[in-house]
Amino acid sequence: MRILVLGATGYIGSAIVDELKNNDHDVIALARSSEAEEKLLAKNIEIVRGDIRSPHNWSHVVQNVDAIIHTAATFTDDMGDVDLTLVQELISACEKFSNRLRFIYTGGVWLYGETGSNIATEDTAYNPINAFAWMIQNAKIVQAASCFDAITLHPSIVWDRDGGGLSRFITSIKEKGRAEVWGSLETHWPMVHREDLASAYRLAVESNLSNDTFNLTTEEGVLVRDIIQKLDRRFDVSKDALIIPADDVITGQGDWAQGPMLDQRMSAQKFHDAFDWTVQHRNVLSEI
Ligand SMILES: NC(=O)c1ccc[n+]([C@@H]2O[C@H](COP(=O)([O-])OP(=O)(O)OC[C@H]3O[C@@H](n4cnc5c(N)ncnc54)[C@H](OP(=O)(O)O)[C@@H]3O)[C@@H](O)[C@H]2O)c1
Repeated sequence: MRILVLGATGYIGSAIVDELKNNDHDVIALARSSEAEEKLLAKNIEIVRGDIRSPHNWSHVVQNVDAIIHTAATFTDDMGDVDLTLVQELISACEKFSNRLRFIYTGGVWLYGETGSNIATEDTAYNPINAFAWMIQNAKIVQAASCFDAITLHPSIVWDRDGGGLSRFITSIKEKGRAEVWGSLETHWPMVHREDLASAYRLAVESNLSNDTFNLTTEEGVLVRDIIQKLDRRFDVSKDALIIPADDVITGQGDWAQGPMLDQRMSAQKFHDAFDWTVQHRNVLSEI
């Protein structure tokens, strides 16, 4: 397939690009800067230069692709509006060139809010944190578009041994000699390794399912205290973690920081039932 990837230089998007290339797909990636272009050219990936803030400048590329995987986000206060304009422009372009496209839209686990000991499935009502609530409406718009065969994927917290959801902890350990934890050690994070996530995106884009939503996680809920314990051992940390009170975190970081302070559990059973998803990284605690 010929697949346009938005966010191809990002943490999730770059893993997806590698997965697609390794499976003989033809990738075209949006790059908004020379730096992004260089990263993508190093992977021998075709580029379209453009910004998701001005999609009308490059949306013509949709006439030459079979699918779009959208993992771009500005993470600014106006990110919901930027995303809405983007998806509306992609729908218009798709309708204009009258081609039907597969579309994979990215949501996320924080749309379920605090679940406590309940396990969020795709039937669980959304209870999003404010900063990302816009994703729900935009996903609906994408799924309702008659020119798209669209699937929404909700990744849990994405990790690899040295980064993603763990990077904040690792940075504070390296810079300050102990982990800084927002809110509480007693929260649970559903987690998925970025390579497993990428293979799930590939399966989704290759499938013929549409107008559906799937959660993507390989662990329903990992206790943050256990993650910190493992990292402390790995980096030989002797000091206890510094717990930053939730209110101070929100004041310092903004509303989005509610996300990593949620106590959540999530299941990807629906995805496993629909796809032959081979998971390589089953247990974050055994790998970090
Ligand atoms: N990481 C997670 O644990 C996680 C979990 C669940 C859901 N999600 C969702 O997944 C999506 C991607 O997350 P991520 O962690 O991969 O983020 P990321 O590493 O920050 O990547 C964001 C991507 O968007 C691109 N981008 C930002 N502003 C742009 C603009 N104005 N025009 C064009 N491209 C632009 C970036 O390009 P540059 O390289 O040029 O900056 C980068 O490729 C987000 O919607 C996020 O909410 C993430």
